[in-house]
Amino acid sequence: MNIIFVGPPGAGKGTQAVEICKAKGIPQISTGDILRKAIKEGTETGLKAKAFVEAGQLVPDDVLIGIIKDRLAQSDCADGYILDGFPRTVPQAEALEGIAKIDVVIELDVPDDVLVDRLSGRRVCPGCGATYHVSMLGGETKCAACGAELIVRKDDMPETVLNRLKVYHAQTAPLVSFYEKKGTLRKIDGTSGVSEIFKAIMNALEA
Ligand code: AP5
Repeated sequence: MNIIFVGPPGAGKGTQAVEICKAKGIPQISTGDILRKAIKEGTETGLKAKAFVEAGQLVPDDVLIGIIKDRLAQSDCADGYILDGFPRTVPQAEALEGIAKIDVVIELDVPDDVLVDRLSGRRVCPGCGATYHVSMLGGETKCAACGAELIVRKDDMPETVLNRLKVYHAQTAPLVSFYEKKGTLRKIDGTSGVSEIFKAIMNALEA
């Protein structure tokens, strides 16, 4: 099954994609993770993307479409995948139509005030990529999975978060009606607990 997760920054796309991918045995394709890795390694794509990502702006469509075309051609995508963070603009969604057939689009719906709290409290592991929220760490500063010191993502600084939300509403939210018209959109309330949302997504995928 080929699945898209759409939703604002901090909606829980990454948190849920990891669990749903485990349950379904399919890969999670996070364009944010791909770009952060490219920036860290200083590749050509990373150099192009760095300033956009750090300012909370979208990286140009042609860069992302190229990344996704290459990634979806890999053999682990043959039995399905979750696209986490792509498409993010209508031109990206239109380009995807020529690359893949999407079965379901899961929209995680969360109001802006909740998102600001989630992102300002997010801590990530630079080693294995695990994501936490300070409210669940009880003062712990190391990753429970690999022991690395947790960090704050550069684009989780308050002024960048507000910019990312603006960018989401202006450029990504139109995808909701794009996929509604195609009949593939399933809206999920993203404000409840992680395990309740997981169940709601699994039910939506089976419906
Ligand atoms: P990306 O990494 O995709 O960031 P994003 O979409 O802004 O999403 P986030 O990773 O911030 O949030 P999430 O929804 O995954 O939430 P999470 O599960 O971590 O992209 C980064 C940048 O790359 C973009 O700004 C752009 O520059 C560029 N980019 C990427 N794709 C692009 C594209 N297609 N085109 C152009 N540019 C692109 O959860 C957040 C926090 O909330 C965590 O602390 C978590 O523990 C907590 N949490 C999660 N669920 C719950 C819950 N149910 N209750 C309480 N807390 C929760």
